[in-house]
Amino acid sequence: MSGLFITLEGVDGAGKSSHMQWLPDFFAQQGLEVVMTREPGGTPVGEKLREILLHESMSQETEALLMFASRQENLNRVIKPALAAGKLLLCDRFTDSTYAYQGGGRHFDTGKIAALENWVQAGLNPDLTLLFDVPLAVSRERLGRHGASLDRFEQENDTFFEAVRNAYLQRAANDPARFMVVDSTQPFDQVKEFVEAGLLKFIRQRINAHT
Ligand code: TYD
Repeated sequence: MSGLFITLEGVDGAGKSSHMQWLPDFFAQQGLEVVMTREPGGTPVGEKLREILLHESMSQETEALLMFASRQENLNRVIKPALAAGKLLLCDRFTDSTYAYQGGGRHFDTGKIAALENWVQAGLNPDLTLLFDVPLAVSRERLGRHGASLDRFEQENDTFFEAVRNAYLQRAANDPARFMVVDSTQPFDQVKEFVEAGLLKFIRQRINAHT
């Protein structure tokens, strides 16, 4: 028996973190056992890598390699065991973030990202990806409102975030079966309803496919 692998994506300030709060309860209500993790991070080594990635300056190559080093640990220690146990694994960011931020934002060679993806994941991909999408002005405004100190990625300029968003939307357009694009400019409750409806449909399809 294998579980369900669901990832959450979006530019900083798109509302992903707010919706991450209610999702575990929602899945539990559907009778699904949920394991949550995040990237970079999710394991003791991954969380140390996260600290370095968010706060230390480094080359693009190092950044991409450390993202995948964190991912390797997360896959081995958290993601694969949860899926093998038939659980629902919810991951806050995964490889689409690398294509969007390193590939789109930093213009890092996507061929190299694909090589790392093939090596580390060996064909293991999310079953469903929720992409929280907002125009640049909205995400910038929301980020500013937090008032907290911004990390290395959040400090990037508008051109960077526009490229990140476009890379996400391009990936979603290329793989509509996996992506659910969420218009996150709507009020919170409306976004929540849309996501709930989409998830229920997805879960029912999965259950029907296995019966
Ligand atoms: P996130 O956890 O969403 O930040 P926060 O807790 O501040 O909301 O993500 C951390 C940052 O890491 C985010 O700016 C995107 C970046 N990131 C990449 O650049 N590449 C990746 O592969 C991943 C997983 C994250």
